[in-house]
Amino acid sequence: MTSTAAELLTNIDTSPIDVLYRHVRARTMQIVAPLEIEDYVIQTAEFMSPPRWHIGHTSWFFETVLQAHQPGYKFYSEDYLFYFNSYYEGFGARIERPKRGTKSRPTVRETVAYRNHVDEQMLAFLDSIGAKSGAERVLSLVRLGLEHEMQHQELLVYDIKHLLCDQYGAPVKPAPISSVKVEGMAEIEGGLFWLGYGGQVQSPKSKVQSLSNYDFAFDNEKPAHQVFLQDYALDRALVSNGEFLEFMRDNGYQNYRWWFSEGWETVNKEQWQAPMYWEVHDGEWMIRDFTGLHPAASKSAEPVAHVSFFEASAFAKWAGKRLPTEAEWEKAATIDSTDGEPKAFPWGNDIDETRANLLESGLWAPAPIGAFPAGQNSHDCHQMLGDVWEWTTSDYVPYPGFKSEFDEYNDKWFVNQKVLRGGSYATPQSHIRSTYRNFFHAHERWMISGFRCAKDL
Ligand SMILES: [Fe+2]
Repeated sequence: MTSTAAELLTNIDTSPIDVLYRHVRARTMQIVAPLEIEDYVIQTAEFMSPPRWHIGHTSWFFETVLQAHQPGYKFYSEDYLFYFNSYYEGFGARIERPKRGTKSRPTVRETVAYRNHVDEQMLAFLDSIGAKSGAERVLSLVRLGLEHEMQHQELLVYDIKHLLCDQYGAPVKPAPISSVKVEGMAEIEGGLFWLGYGGQVQSPKSKVQSLSNYDFAFDNEKPAHQVFLQDYALDRALVSNGEFLEFMRDNGYQNYRWWFSEGWETVNKEQWQAPMYWEVHDGEWMIRDFTGLHPAASKSAEPVAHVSFFEASAFAKWAGKRLPTEAEWEKAATIDSTDGEPKAFPWGNDIDETRANLLESGLWAPAPIGAFPAGQNSHDCHQMLGDVWEWTTSDYVPYPGFKSEFDEYNDKWFVNQKVLRGGSYATPQSHIRSTYRNFFHAHERWMISGFRCAKDL
């Protein structure tokens, strides 16, 4: 399996989309490379998918592009269309999500053969398409397919964590140490603000390929539009495990007054007493992650992760604060207070591994608060990109003037979900933007979700 990834990494073409295609497809196989064959087909919860499903589903997505735009292309297998379609009604019948782990076929070997077939076809297709009319529309679909695959790379990290956690053998690099103290809240002036992707920032070049993070945006980030903000204050640091432990020790999970009604119901129904992946051993709270089981106290300086919107909101209320809106978050992440100009990232227009803890950092965990001083914004807010996705109070709804660019991709999810911003340690570097809108239900916490608080001024 790893030979496929290695083959793809060599033989690099000069066309930017080819380079990105090879790079992204290879990285998916690098993520699954440490797995044993048995690991690929197990589904450990309804919300996760077996790794075999991800490597097939991301190929299925490209097969739909070939079917629509490569004359004479024939689907590889009707059975695979059924097994590897995720939720697209428009592409026909599909296996129910909770049943993805109930089948041993197609086998992993067959799935990898399917993946290799799609890669061969796609690379030939990309080679042939350059000069054709309508190429731009097709290339934007290919780019969507690659961004889709990067989303699945992040999902693979979540799912492998649930499946194996410390048994996975993640190739973990040493965590950077915190070099600065991050405290207090930044006071940010309100007024009119352009929310969303409008190409108003200078397009930064990504290091991995010659396409940039800002050459592309999902339809849900558009159009940019003006919103009015009151003056507000935003935490300079993400909420840490240590702070969250204080909330727990103050009986935060036992006191209804901090919780929304639905949150309180969930706490009682699920018997939540701590974030996901926290366990009690001999009366002490421990956190399990990719490197093992650690006393929560030894991780008190790291951002809390795997909390739901309900838990984040309860903590904020207990702390006398609130969660930010997505507009407040985005303004802090894009507007440089020294010149008032929008920037691509909180620190400026270029991205590299010194700025944020993303997938390429190889930490496989949130970094201690203050470990990425080169990534702070002009208000000294740290770690806005990377580490953990940050819950906002904003409902995931279309921006005014929204136009769907791909049926069923984003448009059918605009109900009952909350927006999260900023990416996590599992987000590929070339996939993140300050305008990026992620979304989950208020009770979900299997993803790498944390938060920082805000306050009215
Ligand atoms: Fe998908």
